[in-house]
Amino acid sequence: MSEGKPLVGVDIGATSIKVCQLKEGRSGLGIVRLGYEALEPQTIVDRHIMNAQAVIDALVSAFQRGKIRQKEVALSVSGQSVISRKITVPIMTTAELDEQIQWEAENHIPFDIKDVNVDYEILRRRPEAGQMDLLLVAAKRDEINDYVQIARQAKLKPLVVDIDAFTIQNMFEYSRGLPADQTFAIINVGATQASINIISGGTSAFTRDIANGGNFLTEQIIKQVGVSYDEAEQLKYQAATAHVASSLPPQVYDVVESVCDTIAAEIQRSLDFFIATSGEERIGRVFLTGGTAKLHQLSSAIERRSRVTVEVIQPLERLPIEAKEVDRELLDQRSTQFCVALGLGMRKTRERRA
Ligand SMILES: Nc1ncnc2c1ncn2[C@@H]1O[C@H](COP(=O)(O)OP(=O)(O)OP(=O)(O)O)[C@@H](O)[C@H]1O
Ligand SMILES: [Mg+2]
Repeated sequence: MSEGKPLVGVDIGATSIKVCQLKEGRSGLGIVRLGYEALEPQTIVDRHIMNAQAVIDALVSAFQRGKIRQKEVALSVSGQSVISRKITVPIMTTAELDEQIQWEAENHIPFDIKDVNVDYEILRRRPEAGQMDLLLVAAKRDEINDYVQIARQAKLKPLVVDIDAFTIQNMFEYSRGLPADQTFAIINVGATQASINIISGGTSAFTRDIANGGNFLTEQIIKQVGVSYDEAEQLKYQAATAHVASSLPPQVYDVVESVCDTIAAEIQRSLDFFIATSGEERIGRVFLTGGTAKLHQLSSAIERRSRVTVEVIQPLERLPIEAKEVDRELLDQRSTQFCVALGLGMRKTRERRA
């Protein structure tokens, strides 16, 4: 339950900035503004901002090109500096929990607690057992501050900081719901990382980020075919479209196949780890998103490795375009890259806590 107006969703990724603005109409949310701005390679490395000015300029430009005037935004962080864990604690009041949560975090989070921001969500109260289940989330303060500072320098007003995996879950819940009787994974494969979120019993039960993604494919094409970064990106995009792919240098397919298989193997290890530690029997389905989800070879590799049906998320299923300013072609081409920004765009200026 929440009130207030939607914030502008701002996703600062390794290769590009995606921004969007949603509006609440009588029949639900719709997209009214959209912006995209590419970042040069090495601007952000391992989630660290190496060239702050380039990111600020790209943010300003994404807002200008998208004709977005609202300044209040929601940001997200991800990668190795964010951790979430499902934990069980004795039943207590929210006030008690607010005091206790730092302690709990110290026991469950492998970071120095002084360096992190801790948050939680109550998943389930089980009075019969005298316990309740929480989702504990910790993110390194430095990283949050870096992203918040950058947004402020671009004259924006960040009101919410979420994590990539949960923003996509938010978007997914809006369009499909989170059926309580199903266990499935939502996986966002971007340029430098793949974030896995396993949903069980209608909530997130496990998240993990893997440091691998589409950039690795591009780098391998550069090495194997001997082309520039831009040419390698082009070749990769062509390989993702089956009908024009036949004219490509054969090494491109080999690279695409082998890197997709490596990513699928890493994903499978995480799914196996979850199965081994959660007592669940199987993952019913994998939903894929992020720019690298455009490669059908990745879906096939995951299906082969994990023996599970893979479906690419269609973010526009329940999100109609509601303004002529929205660049439809951009959205069609880059739909899977916009899931984080769209999920962030569902956050509101005022939210009531669960
Ligand atoms: N049509 C396509 N075919 C193949 N790859 C694509 C296509 N569109 C985008 N990509 C790849 O997707 C990646 C960008 O996706 P996305 O925007 O989700 O990542 P990011 O948010 O910039 O990175 P990260 O999440 O790792 O920080 C790039 O590696 C890009 O080459
Ligand atoms: Mg991303």
